[in-house]
Amino acid sequence: MAHFAALVGLGSYLPPRRVTNEELATMFDTSAEWIATRTGIRARHWAAPGVATSDLAVEAGHRALKSANLPLEPGAVDAVVLATTTPDHPCPATAPQVAARLGLGTVAAYDIAAVCSGFVYALATASAQITAGQARRVLVIGAETYSTILNPADRTTSVIFGDGAGAVVLRAVPDADRPGVILGVDLGSDGSRQDLITIPAGGSRERSTPGEPDPQDRYFTMQGKKVFAEAVNRMGESATALLDRVGWPAGSVDHLVGHQANIRILKALAQRLGLPEERAVVNVDRVGNTSAASIPLALSDAVAAGTLPSGSRVLLTAFGGGLTWGAAALTWPDLSAA
Ligand code: UT7
Repeated sequence: MAHFAALVGLGSYLPPRRVTNEELATMFDTSAEWIATRTGIRARHWAAPGVATSDLAVEAGHRALKSANLPLEPGAVDAVVLATTTPDHPCPATAPQVAARLGLGTVAAYDIAAVCSGFVYALATASAQITAGQARRVLVIGAETYSTILNPADRTTSVIFGDGAGAVVLRAVPDADRPGVILGVDLGSDGSRQDLITIPAGGSRERSTPGEPDPQDRYFTMQGKKVFAEAVNRMGESATALLDRVGWPAGSVDHLVGHQANIRILKALAQRLGLPEERAVVNVDRVGNTSAASIPLALSDAVAAGTLPSGSRVLLTAFGGGLTWGAAALTWPDLSAA
């Protein structure tokens, strides 16, 4: 029997420390006004020292399972997929630890490394596991602690990124027309432009190169202006390709949930797709750019605000380092976010 993958649970978690633009203006050569005007960001959350990505992922995962009415016990899900740029360690992956701490038993658990596109890649992979009949329920998490990789000497990246985690549960269902079913995904990459977003050191390239590494190379770097243009183009192309495949006219999308990197990118993307700006879901003002956690955090905020009614057409799209990008389409299910 054919199976389709439906979203049946949603949860999110932000570390308690809220960092305002005003606070950052006392730490960097910047102003609250520059940050708000150029990015739309007014505040973000940063994890306390000693808190790692798995800690946030466990909280969000717990809440998503609760939202899906699933217990914290072996058999609740068949796989845990965790998208992150900031794993607890270079080795092993963070997902197995999260699965164990959630009490989910000896399930398949693996990380996805697609930077800010990670959640869409993870959703695509989890959905494929279900449609292939390899899993009945999958917990998909996007979790980040960017505050641990930001360069205190780089005012541009330091004011943009925030920490947080969001998660969904996908479940096998028999009919494609049920709300929540992932109707299609589109994924892409361009590795020839990997230098636009990178942490230069910490991997085999640095370790196999003789000489002392530059400590600065351990931080996250981004060429913002070039990334901005690529983000609008690639998310626009990916979303358009997916809409064609799914058979939705662009104007029929009720909610555009784009990667929350910059309010100007979200507006340009809506315009490019021919959608009124109000159809773009926005929470970048409150959480900043949370990379792989961005889309599930935006979904959770919209559900909590009551602005994402069941039955509405939702288009997810993300762009990030790699370069990578992707899109996914679904009709919103009837659920409450935890
Ligand atoms: O998550 C993955 C995808 N990421 C993105 O999509 C991010 C895309 N990029 C962006 O959102 C924007 O490019 C940024 C927000 C990163 C930067 O905004 P921008 O409008 O592209 O600024 P810019 O880099 O062109 O810099 C404009 C000016 C420069 O000064 P000059 O050369 O004009 O004198 C910068 O030095 O703003 C200066 N600047 C700042 N000034 C105050 C850069 N960062 C800051 C800052 N505070 N924090």
